[in-house]
Amino acid sequence: MKKIAIIYHSAHGHTEHIATHVLEGANSVPNTEVHLLKVEDITKTPDELLKYDGYILGSPTYLGGVSGPFKMFMDATGRLWRTQKLKGKLAAGFTVSSLPSGDKQSTLMSMFVFCMQHGMLWIGNAILPEQHTGVPYEEAANRLGSWSGMMAQAGHSAPADSFPAGDIKTARMFGKNFSEALHRVSGTGQTFAEDQEALA
Ligand SMILES: Cc1cc2nc3c(=O)[nH]c(=O)nc-3n(C[C@H](O)[C@H](O)[C@H](O)COP(=O)(O)O)c2cc1C
Repeated sequence: MKKIAIIYHSAHGHTEHIATHVLEGANSVPNTEVHLLKVEDITKTPDELLKYDGYILGSPTYLGGVSGPFKMFMDATGRLWRTQKLKGKLAAGFTVSSLPSGDKQSTLMSMFVFCMQHGMLWIGNAILPEQHTGVPYEEAANRLGSWSGMMAQAGHSAPADSFPAGDIKTARMFGKNFSEALHRVSGTGQTFAEDQEALA
């Protein structure tokens, strides 16, 4: 059994909504246990991270970076960094923002650097944008074209569950790919989906 923590902050529910679909995808791989952890909680007890084999980080993009509460979580791992207790764990990141770009890449980069400082192994978002094969843009997996991590876009002031179908699909595929990567790296027999269709 491999354990994954999805560690997220969400002030208005959009990032949380995507996190639940990442969980669905990650949980669909046998012998995987996936937990949703709010940063507000794990910031108080960072040693809890040691229980997990992999982490999927999720933050809204605020002013081109992670949100304040998410950064508080990062900074609360200082002792774990000094002792390199998270070295070799797998990690990935996703972010939600309201604009098509909105500088989401910058948020993913700060998550990536955080994980590199901890000596973790970074897993990206290995999904080809489906609009290139004729799938309508709003329904296409990885429609926003992000490989370093997963991106989703929630319209300004839109309800938390009103994402384009493509972003929901991407979230599930991203979660599943992460679980498969974790089992593969751990040598527990799980192989990667042979093609993108198998992730969907
Ligand atoms: C302080 C603040 C800064 C924001 N900065 C950005 C930004 O840089 N780019 C962007 O596209 N959206 C930005 N947004 C919009 C949020 O990313 C968007 O509303 C997101 O869906 C919020 O996620 P949540 O509902 O999980 O809290 C910002 C929102 C706030 C409150």
